Amino acid sequence: MISPETIQRIKDAARIEDVVGEFVPLKKRGSTLLGLCPFHREKTPSFNVNITRNTYKCFGCGKGGDAISFLEEHEKLSYPEALRWLADRYQIEVEEKQASPEQAAERNHQESLLIVNQFAAQWFTEQMFNTEEGQAVGLSYFQERGLRKDSIESFQLGWCPENGESLTEAAQKAGYRLEFLEELGLTRSKEGRYWDFYRGRVIFPIQNAAGKVIAFGARTLRSGSNIPKYLNSPESPIYSKGEVLYGLHQARRAMADADMAYLVEGYMDLIAMHQAEIKNSVASSGTALSSPQLRMIRRYTRNITMLYDGDSAGLKAAMRGAETALEEDMHVYFAPLPQGEDPDSLLQRLGSEGMREFLSEKSQDIILYKTDLLLQEAGKDPVQKAAMVRDVVESISRVGDPIARSLYLKKCAEKMELPEAVLIQESNKALQQRMRRAQSGGGISLGGGAAAGANAGYGGPGVAGAGGAGSEALPPLPGMEGPDPQETKVPAYVHRERDLVRLLMESENYHVEEQSAISVILEQISDVDLEHPFYAEVVQEYRAAWSEGRVLGTQFFFDHERREYKELALELLHKPYEISPNWTLKHEIAITDRRFLIRKDIEKVVAYLKADKLDRLLAELHRNLKDASADESTDPSDIQHMLGLYQELRQARSAITGAAGQMLVKRDV
Ligand code: UTP
Ligand code: MN
Repeated sequence: MISPETIQRIKDAARIEDVVGEFVPLKKRGSTLLGLCPFHREKTPSFNVNITRNTYKCFGCGKGGDAISFLEEHEKLSYPEALRWLADRYQIEVEEKQASPEQAAERNHQESLLIVNQFAAQWFTEQMFNTEEGQAVGLSYFQERGLRKDSIESFQLGWCPENGESLTEAAQKAGYRLEFLEELGLTRSKEGRYWDFYRGRVIFPIQNAAGKVIAFGARTLRSGSNIPKYLNSPESPIYSKGEVLYGLHQARRAMADADMAYLVEGYMDLIAMHQAEIKNSVASSGTALSSPQLRMIRRYTRNITMLYDGDSAGLKAAMRGAETALEEDMHVYFAPLPQGEDPDSLLQRLGSEGMREFLSEKSQDIILYKTDLLLQEAGKDPVQKAAMVRDVVESISRVGDPIARSLYLKKCAEKMELPEAVLIQESNKALQQRMRRAQSGGGISLGGGAAAGANAGYGGPGVAGAGGAGSEALPPLPGMEGPDPQETKVPAYVHRERDLVRLLMESENYHVEEQSAISVILEQISDVDLEHPFYAEVVQEYRAAWSEGRVLGTQFFFDHERREYKELALELLHKPYEISPNWTLKHEIAITDRRFLIRKDIEKVVAYLKADKLDRLLAELHRNLKDASADESTDPSDIQHMLGLYQELRQARSAITGAAGQMLVKRDV
């Protein structure tokens, strides 16, 4: 365990902007740094890094904390791991405190295994470079396959001699325990006889993200199908097969920088890609891409290009991993390899530049590729065609982002020359089916789509669940009756933000005292950031136009090349903001002119948005207060200060809802 003194030293040294800056591009904005939140999907930055307080906070999804919690959240590190990461970064020596005997034993055990692997990897390398057999067989094999010395060294490649037991002997002589060698799969035994499991094979050490050797792949140089081409380490306390990406350690930076991960299958493919300076590549090592592997990639980028065989078998293999990626809101591209080639052979033929060209020319959206390929295969056969439609739509229904999903449906409908409605219907069916299965069986992955129900509503997934305490206390706006029954899970603020967009659309031709209604609204909400990514984007469009002296009209939406804009306008303007007939009757006011009301509407919508914002602040402050009072070291005057602030915010909020409430009382009498 890390001593408290060390922890304090680490905390004192850690700078939030350094740590976050390693993973998130930040821009200076006043006294804070601003970036796109790595914890939720957003297009306008709401992720704040406060240098003076040494904390971060996302006003979109509510995540916040210090350097340690950032690492815990973002890198999925445990608390001690995060501390060690920071100690490493700031070169602080870690003093250990006595751990519990079990903890110490477990840690020791894992560390012992890592040390044994490190020894073995080094030994394999030495054998390859420094023995006659190693040079003649191992090294010359890698050289024939076109690997340079620096690549061989960087991936710590090696050679395990033909002689049956030299590693086991050397390791024991150096003091390593036989039981560890066996546990790691380096040594096998039978009836008191021992031998090296990887004898006569070239060695590919597998490193974890931190560069530690956790396992080995070992390739035979014999041709012939009676022995396995590769032997791999068994599972062990330091190695779970499905949770490792070969090359990750070397690829991390490059994947983040390029905002793209190339995924290949084999060890040799991976090394060849890195040797060609296409370092944002990782390998799944021959298995379908697993969820843990995807999550590792997703820490660095949301974009994957899979380099697989271009035929339907290759596509099928790629698709298995791709569907999970689509569910996790990643963009998946497919680079179909020419018949009979793998990335390694292609690189030999095309060279680095050629490969880059190939990738930029041939990479396609995987769903569109699938559509084309299956269409081609189905030909004119109607039965096959029906099956292919279902197959493609099943994949589309897994796409988490509803906007992306509806775009796919449209594009694929075009390709298939089918009405879009047919595909939408099929997609809803697929979603519902999976939902039912999940309800009865549990645990089946639903994709983002299902979370919002089968409707293609805009308020569903991707919405940060930061709805504040008490927001449900606000009554619905007139003519904006609040949630559809289908959408009851959608946080209240989503409806309010939709109301705002609706109001903006409808205000095109109205004025409030000579000023255009749209600019009145924009002025009043200048300090309000929207939570919902799409509505935020739309409001940003209004702001951009306004700052150029233009007023955005509804025509902008209908002319927009992106279909979700058209759909939004259709959806919102189709159910026009209408004053209930009762209202006019009760109040005997003849409403002949919308102008009469637009001012009140603006006041209400703005009031609600501001109340939502205050709710979010209040909720956060409440959390802080709880934390602070639980922490004995908190200065009482800090708590006093926070309580004061809390009071102020509450008063501000009741002032707003009080006013808005009155308006509503008038209406509802
Ligand atoms: P490949 O057969 O394509 O291997 O299998 P490769 O790396 O391109 O090897 P070369 O080019 O023939 O030298 C792809 C990956 O599948 C796993 C390995 O991770 C391999 O890199 N694999 C393959 C195994 O684990 N065991 C096997 O028997 C075969
Ligand atoms: Mn190969």
